[in-house]
Amino acid sequence: MSHLISLSLLNADFGNLKSEIEMINHSEADWFHLDIMDGSFVPNISFGFPVLKHIKKLAKKPLDIHLMISKPDRFLNEFKNYGAYFITVHYEACKHLHKTIQKIKSLDVKAGVSLNPHTPVHLLEEIISDIDMVLLMSVIPGYGGQKFIENTYNKVRTLKQLIDKKKSSSLIEIDGGVDLITGRKLVDSGVNVLVAGSFVFNSNNPAEIISRLKQLG
Ligand code: DX5
Ligand code: ZN
Repeated sequence: MSHLISLSLLNADFGNLKSEIEMINHSEADWFHLDIMDGSFVPNISFGFPVLKHIKKLAKKPLDIHLMISKPDRFLNEFKNYGAYFITVHYEACKHLHKTIQKIKSLDVKAGVSLNPHTPVHLLEEIISDIDMVLLMSVIPGYGGQKFIENTYNKVRTLKQLIDKKKSSSLIEIDGGVDLITGRKLVDSGVNVLVAGSFVFNSNNPAEIISRLKQLG
């Protein structure tokens, strides 16, 4: 499978959300990456259900929802109802991760687990066969536009070994600081999904940048 591009709306122009979404609909992006932040798990607040409702109506591609919130179990039903294709929770935010994963799957939604940059991959050893995706944070969660953390390449290698060892079919998604240089190395090392945000929205021609990220394969 060639790699997928999941477009993070965090750095989009929310005053023109409709046209930003339409641009993504017509682009080569594969998924919408929606960053939900609660001001507790991460030191920032992004957007919530009223905005998601709007996105659900307009978006014509799957919604890849990244929950940077404490105790995500409280809201899994709502995210399902707002059209989630994937729900990714943070390892660090879940006391009973196995239960959370089972709940997401029972809603007929694909389940992902995200690791902060300092959280080692081996902690997923006992759950990797039960999940559909691992999202490795390649920046500190909370903000777009940060510099890519180079140690992520090592984590990708370790994660691939774990996935192979456990015969898991989990995808690997990388989130933060993706551009054409980091993206190329990540695709070459077997990453399945690249999240792209500010690199796309800061350019004069977002659709063209998306296309170039897609062609890295
Ligand atoms: C950060 C978010 C990312 C972020 C990526 O906490 O999870 O999805 O928006 O943005 P860039 O591509 O700007 O690093
Ligand atoms: Zn994200």
